[in-house]
Amino acid sequence: MKKTLFAAIIIFGISFPLAGDDISQPSLRGSSSPAITAEAKQTKIAEASSRFIQRFQSALKGELMAGMKAGGPVGALDICKIKAPKIAAAHTHSGWSIKRVSDRNRNPQNIPDSVEADILNRFVEGKATPAAFGHWVKPDSLYHYYAPIVTGKLCLNCHGDAASLASGVPEKLKELYPDDRAVGYKEGDIRGLFVVTVRWPEGEELMRQLLADSTLAE
Ligand code: HEC
Repeated sequence: MKKTLFAAIIIFGISFPLAGDDISQPSLRGSSSPAITAEAKQTKIAEASSRFIQRFQSALKGELMAGMKAGGPVGALDICKIKAPKIAAAHTHSGWSIKRVSDRNRNPQNIPDSVEADILNRFVEGKATPAAFGHWVKPDSLYHYYAPIVTGKLCLNCHGDAASLASGVPEKLKELYPDDRAVGYKEGDIRGLFVVTVRWPEGEELMRQLLADSTLAE
């Protein structure tokens, strides 16, 4: 996915009182510099969230490509079914978690809640600019970051319309996901939403690691 998609970050929601809160987190301050501003902290956590998505997405893509290579799209369906939830679970640690939701979901667990559905809608309608954003749901304690998931060419093997689904995929989908709604997409369509949740201050350490990971740099 385009890195530029995640580079742009809108900051909305709460501007929360700062000094008192940040003094309780001395590690967020440089030794000689004054306490980091709320805005700087917001920018950092948003950048770390975008990197967290990158990490998750490349783990997913790695499994997907390996599955496709080993068993074609039909074989990869089995692998996705088992591995996708496991990869999400493996990314749940140190105050951070991630999920994918879609208004036309395949896995029945990936239904968006009403807030997520609303945000997804804004992305679908092109009203959410810049293209990814985060906000504090509870000031200094619970943070969410949202980014759209865009359908690429490869995805059409398993999420496209009847003409582009790979052979054998419709039958296998019926077997694995009898209530599947995740077909009929075209390249460039928004397939769903990444939702990152960060609990603070537990999430601070992983935030630092993500920001320091040069393999995830822009
Ligand atoms: C080999 C078939 C296959 C390919 C190719 C594939 N997917 Fe999926 N996709 C699946 C399966 C199977 C699930 C359900 C996984 C589960 O049970 O959690 C899924 C679930 C998803 C979900 C979670 C929401 C939902 O509907 O449950 C998103 C978002 C998604 N895929 C996006 C993509 C994107 C974007 C691509 C292309 C980069 C892609 N997929 C390529 C098979 C595939």
